[in-house]
Amino acid sequence: MIKSNMLDGKVVIVTGASSGIGRAIAIRAAEHGAKAVIVSDVVETPREGGEPTASEIRKLGAQSVFVKADVSRKADNDELVATAEQFGGVDVMFANAGITLKTDGPEVPEEDYRRLMSVNLDGPLFGAQAAARQMKALGKQGSIVLMASMGGISGAGITVAYSTSKGGVVVMAKSLADALGPAGIRVNAVAPGTIDTELLRTSPGIAQASEGFRQRTPLLRLGKPSEVGDAVAFLGSDLSSYVSGTALLVDGGLLSVI
Ligand SMILES: NC(=O)c1ccc[n+]([C@@H]2O[C@H](COP(=O)([O-])OP(=O)(O)OC[C@H]3O[C@@H](n4cnc5c(N)ncnc54)[C@H](O)[C@@H]3O)[C@@H](O)[C@H]2O)c1
Repeated sequence: MIKSNMLDGKVVIVTGASSGIGRAIAIRAAEHGAKAVIVSDVVETPREGGEPTASEIRKLGAQSVFVKADVSRKADNDELVATAEQFGGVDVMFANAGITLKTDGPEVPEEDYRRLMSVNLDGPLFGAQAAARQMKALGKQGSIVLMASMGGISGAGITVAYSTSKGGVVVMAKSLADALGPAGIRVNAVAPGTIDTELLRTSPGIAQASEGFRQRTPLLRLGKPSEVGDAVAFLGSDLSSYVSGTALLVDGGLLSVI
């Protein structure tokens, strides 16, 4: 695994970081030199676990704590970002948490639709608001990265609600980039393709479609969570200092071909 110092000295927050891509983002942030990584999730042990992830990060030499926060609740985002003060304030906010639905599609039930939107769309907005407020207060020219998906750039009938939420995240990043740019704060989205995680395996429609996606992907394989971690580390770092308002596809080329 390639290591670097591109996040040297940075204080990083990752939501939904107890498992899957979020966990990989948090660990890769430490491997790319972050000073502190705040590992956050709605529950401590969805799968790999928040405390074990923070402990792994401490072994890599970065400071790390686990903070429980439900991203759909504005107050939880505010409290989460406040915990970064002990490390000097947040430099990089990775709003990664997101869910899929077993009931997605054109007839998605209202309750499920609202729950998905509250996590996938409200979550990144509240997280970005809290982070930007603290960055401005501390005079930090930080970076905010919102988790979209290739499903937010191209639609799919099996993920009507999910794709709608992720498309919203792409435009949210552009709008916030405009609003926060004058303060020196950059906002980008990352749009992964088919990444081999539990979310993929436990979403029946997506799991079924993923073999087809794999065959059509120019690189002929699914992505690894750590590969998304590396892409967002770049967006969080000063190496991307003139990159704002974009949605970076990390999809092995899948959306680039007919
Ligand atoms: N796996 C893929 O192929 C893929 C592709 C594109 C985008 N994504 C996106 O990447 C992100 C991470 O997905 P993943 O594949 O690692 O799935 P995952 O299920 O492993 O991780 C999602 C994490 O979010 C947490 N979470 C759920 N609701 C939350 C809430 N209300 N508040 C805080 N945390 C909450 C879960 O506990 C979990 O740890 C999601 O936003 C997903 O939409 C995944």
